[in-house]
Amino acid sequence: MGFEKNILCIGAGYVGGPTMAMIAHKCPQYRVTVVDINPKRIAAWNSGTLPIYEPGLDEIVKEARGRNLFFSDRIDQGIQEADIIFVSVNTPTKDFGAGAGMAADLQYWEKTARQIREVSRSQKIIVEKSTFPVKTALAMERILTATANGVRFDILSNPEFMAEGTGIRDLEYPDRVLIGSRETPEGLTARDELVEIYANWVPQERIITSNIWSSELSKLVSNAFLAQRISSINAVSSLCEKTEADITEVARIIGMDSRLGDKFLNASIGFGGSCFKKDILSLVYMCRQYGLDEVAAYWEGVVRINDYQKERFVLNMLETMFNTLAAKRICLFGFAFKANTGDTRESPAIYVSRRLLEERAELVITDPRALVNAEADLADVQGQVTFAEDPYEAAVGCDAIAVMTEWDIYAAMDFTRIYETMRKPAFIFDGRNILNHEDLFTMGFNVFPIGKPPLTHFC
Ligand code: UDX
Ligand code: UDX
Repeated sequence: MGFEKNILCIGAGYVGGPTMAMIAHKCPQYRVTVVDINPKRIAAWNSGTLPIYEPGLDEIVKEARGRNLFFSDRIDQGIQEADIIFVSVNTPTKDFGAGAGMAADLQYWEKTARQIREVSRSQKIIVEKSTFPVKTALAMERILTATANGVRFDILSNPEFMAEGTGIRDLEYPDRVLIGSRETPEGLTARDELVEIYANWVPQERIITSNIWSSELSKLVSNAFLAQRISSINAVSSLCEKTEADITEVARIIGMDSRLGDKFLNASIGFGGSCFKKDILSLVYMCRQYGLDEVAAYWEGVVRINDYQKERFVLNMLETMFNTLAAKRICLFGFAFKANTGDTRESPAIYVSRRLLEERAELVITDPRALVNAEADLADVQGQVTFAEDPYEAAVGCDAIAVMTEWDIYAAMDFTRIYETMRKPAFIFDGRNILNHEDLFTMGFNVFPIGKPPLTHFC
């Protein structure tokens, strides 16, 4: 069967894999190929166990795979055959040289652009799916057009806004799809081609177009605003703990103001995930490069509060457990950076684990999906940590439970049974405010939520 278009995605990660699966699922008329430099990742995408866990992903991959969705490690061939190339390689924070610890590391994108240029024999649209500093597209244009082989490339920016755990729903019913282009006749034609792809399932009014720099910036700023909201509510949670105000009530009250809205107001141990910190730091670095030091300091504060929140959680545990954690057995409920994912990148649980180990606590970690990643994250301190699939077993003999991830299963557990198996006094630190604190207190636990008065049996 002939396909209307050949779509390629370079980078089979959390963004590239699900996004392409959705395009293939919604558009059987296109041939969608996903390539990656990591052959193991490709093999996993072709196997019965996909390399990432995302609710609903298995179903759409299995439906489209082999029909019009293909995972391959033949990158050059993929490039040559493609009409449209999405690039979704990673853009981690640079860990060397100028901007180390702040700037986005663009080496993978640049290498990919050079490879596209070297092997392309026909005109192509190149789509930035990864998140970049503003004006990356300009650098890419310069690289792609630096030889006179006559091949034309048009660059578009099409950042992805899906969140992990709800990725498939977000891809199927996005709030908006953003496509930034050059405002030249060729740029607008390329833009329309990408609009046409999304229009297969996304209502036209949700597909918004802009100039390419606005598109690049909007992605960074969206993440910065979301993270800022979490840091704001977390900052207020610390004040609640000092004043007997209750963060859940405060969040509900401010969220009822339609100008503010009620989403993203859950106080927590802090935000994690591969994007927020990296993107804010990239924004901060960019502001500094343009001499906007005050603006940089403003956004940097969002990350600072997040770090503070994580440390505050640990110090609260230390203080309330009689100022020593040495040899205390602490069970972490959850390790993923949020529920419904196995992803642990930048998970606050990593920081909390390391700090608790520094205090010489014994750690037991349980999580329904993230134990493999947790073991890899803590490989250097193996032997000091026990991993347990069953949360009931994990809690046996522990002094404290600390909820790190808001998995539904934890709220539904039989805590009376758990209490009986724990050392006394038994503590619960609810880093996600998902448990019934009054009930736990009645059972005998000393309960420490985020942003609410603790419930303790101590006089
Ligand atoms: C990544 C970035 O983190 C994010 O900023 C960006 O918006 C989208 O891409 P994610 O999909 O979560 O997000 O990253 P990851 O799961 O690490 O996937 C990137 C993939 O690209 C990896 O599978 C890696 O092997 C692949 N890759 C990397 C290439 O195929 N070629 C390269 O040169 C580099
Ligand atoms: C984020 C953006 O939401 C998404 O649009 C972008 O494409 C990628 O980055 P993601 O990191 O996958 O998505 O998850 P998100 O739901 O945003 O959660 C990020 C972190 O914030 C998690 O650690 C989560 O637990 C935390 N969070 C979220 C809170 O602590 N409180 C909240 O109210 C919401």
